[in-house]
Amino acid sequence: MNRGNVMRAGVWLTGARGSVATTAVVGALALRNGLTEPTGCVTAHPELAGAALPPIAGLVFGGHDVATITLAKKAEQLATAGVLPARLVQAVATDLAEVEAELRPVPSQGTQAETAAAIVADIEAFRDRHHLDRVVVLNVASTEAALEPQPAHQSAKALAAALRQSGTVLSPSALYAYSAFSAGCSYVDFTPSAGARLPALEELAAERRLPYAGHDGKTGETLLKSVIAPMFRMRNLKVASWSGMNLLGGGDGANLTDPGANAAKSVSKQRVLGETLGYEPEGNTRIDYVADLGDFKSAWDLITFRGFLGTPMRMEFSWQGCDSALAAPLVLDLARITASAHHNGYAGPLTALAFFFKDPIGDNPDHALAAQWDELRRFVSGLR
Ligand SMILES: NC(=O)c1ccc[n+]([C@@H]2O[C@H](COP(=O)([O-])OP(=O)(O)OC[C@H]3O[C@@H](n4cnc5c(N)ncnc54)[C@H](O)[C@@H]3O)[C@@H](O)[C@H]2O)c1
Repeated sequence: MNRGNVMRAGVWLTGARGSVATTAVVGALALRNGLTEPTGCVTAHPELAGAALPPIAGLVFGGHDVATITLAKKAEQLATAGVLPARLVQAVATDLAEVEAELRPVPSQGTQAETAAAIVADIEAFRDRHHLDRVVVLNVASTEAALEPQPAHQSAKALAAALRQSGTVLSPSALYAYSAFSAGCSYVDFTPSAGARLPALEELAAERRLPYAGHDGKTGETLLKSVIAPMFRMRNLKVASWSGMNLLGGGDGANLTDPGANAAKSVSKQRVLGETLGYEPEGNTRIDYVADLGDFKSAWDLITFRGFLGTPMRMEFSWQGCDSALAAPLVLDLARITASAHHNGYAGPLTALAFFFKDPIGDNPDHALAAQWDELRRFVSGLR
């Protein structure tokens, strides 16, 4: 249903009680009530602001989480930690309670086909209750370890059959992607988890004519890499080594103490260098957990490079950011653009959204931020 030409878009968040999700929801409610500015929202940039996107004020939120903390409590914790202004949390308390009523525990009964059916039922009920034209399922849940390959991942038919057996065929993020497509929704993965990155799920999205985007929001160190690495390439300077140390607290940092999740995140962060420079400089990206940093992160990078006649030089930068404040506006941008792309008939991978991601979908994406920005602008301005 499209009333008065304004599309009604819903955002179904997996990991809805986490820091990024709560910051996105509180931010959207504050914007709806005219209590804040859309600073950090890319879609509010003057070059994109006129685009045909569903307004942030109209986004309807729901979601799943395995945690039981209320949104109000989580928002209060984020305010105490200095992530959210306490006055905004208080001002949107009534609206936040309405979103709370749309959150559901993660179904976990029987086979994975039964779990997926229960997830689909939750999403469809949400869409019907709010008369939504489009629902974007957006993954902001904890990062998972890489998924072990299985033959059933290769085709949609084999996958559907395997899900009906007992046992684990899909990781939670991939099961959400499967459920999203089964419910006729688009899917966005803001995490480095598997999500829709399986041939069977790509086939399902193509069959159902549904768009998807990912992977892993680009908010800090990798954002800087995607600006600085092209500079070295364009000046034909030879990067000898690039080492990055990331320190973060919060739920994400704690989760990344799991070696599998840490490895998935590090791989996602490293891709930009090799593919931008055309060679792999020496060095690694490390991610360590420092509980006391809370939702704030520090990155320190050391780059050594050679100039004319082989002269050795070095560059260092440090970046301190508030994880959720950097990520939340992008979640709102991605929801708006993906809902509109779905409405415009786009299906399959939304490669034009590479601007938002550390590890963008596609075989040979351009990682340079400036090129990604041009592509995003072209794409968004074509939406009707
Ligand atoms: N903040 C950033 O700048 C940034 C950038 C890129 C990616 N990310 C990714 O976004 C995600 C969220 O980050 P965060 O800081 O909000 O983390 P968080 O730990 O605060 O929140 C994650 C939430 O996911 C929930 N969850 C875990 N497993 C689930 C499941 N199977 N189903 C539903 N919910 C589940 C947890 O209970 C928790 O509420 C992480 O994967 C992180 O790597 C964040």
